[in-house]
Amino acid sequence: MLRIAVLGSGRGSNFDAILKAIRQGEIPSARIGLVISNNSNAGILEIARAHSLPALHLSQRQFASEDEYVDSLLAVLGQHDVNCIVLAGYMKRLPARIVAAFRGRILNIHPALLPKYGGQGMYGHFVHEAVIQSGEKISGATVHIVDEEYDHGAILLQRTVEISPDDTPETLAAKVLRLEHELYPEAIRLFSEGHIPHHDL
Ligand code: GRF
Repeated sequence: MLRIAVLGSGRGSNFDAILKAIRQGEIPSARIGLVISNNSNAGILEIARAHSLPALHLSQRQFASEDEYVDSLLAVLGQHDVNCIVLAGYMKRLPARIVAAFRGRILNIHPALLPKYGGQGMYGHFVHEAVIQSGEKISGATVHIVDEEYDHGAILLQRTVEISPDDTPETLAAKVLRLEHELYPEAIRLFSEGHIPHHDL
């Protein structure tokens, strides 16, 4: 059973899609343990509260050092018996100690076909602008394992969308987001069922 902590910084539409899939019984071997955001007014926390899930504002700024922040984060994850971290629009780099503690058990979604259009600074509209500017004919979304480098770990699942000549970064973003809402729950289901290799849970 996956006991998931979702980390996000913003709107939370991917979290919403994952939650719906879990509530509809589509991911029988996964539960959401809690939601954590570095941003106190993130939509993702509101969604969690609306579903009576533990929702926590936790930011490094609340601590004197990164070490204290990581200690606190690890303690909270332990209290909720978390064995998998799902990043859903999380805009911070995860501290190396968290990556090490949950190696192979941290998932992220990126709104492009990695390894292209990833890395530091490639987020939000920057991704779709770069894709359109390069004249790509297809884009898509990628679910991957998180390691110490941005958008770098093993790819778990990818799906494509066609780019039409009249697509703008905005219309492409909307297309890719719709795709993400299908892809992320599916990737989590596959991961929870062991179809995608992961460390013992
Ligand atoms: C998504 O496009 C995701 O690919 C990226 O951040 C965005 C988060 O959107 N990592 P939301 O908060 O899930 O609505």
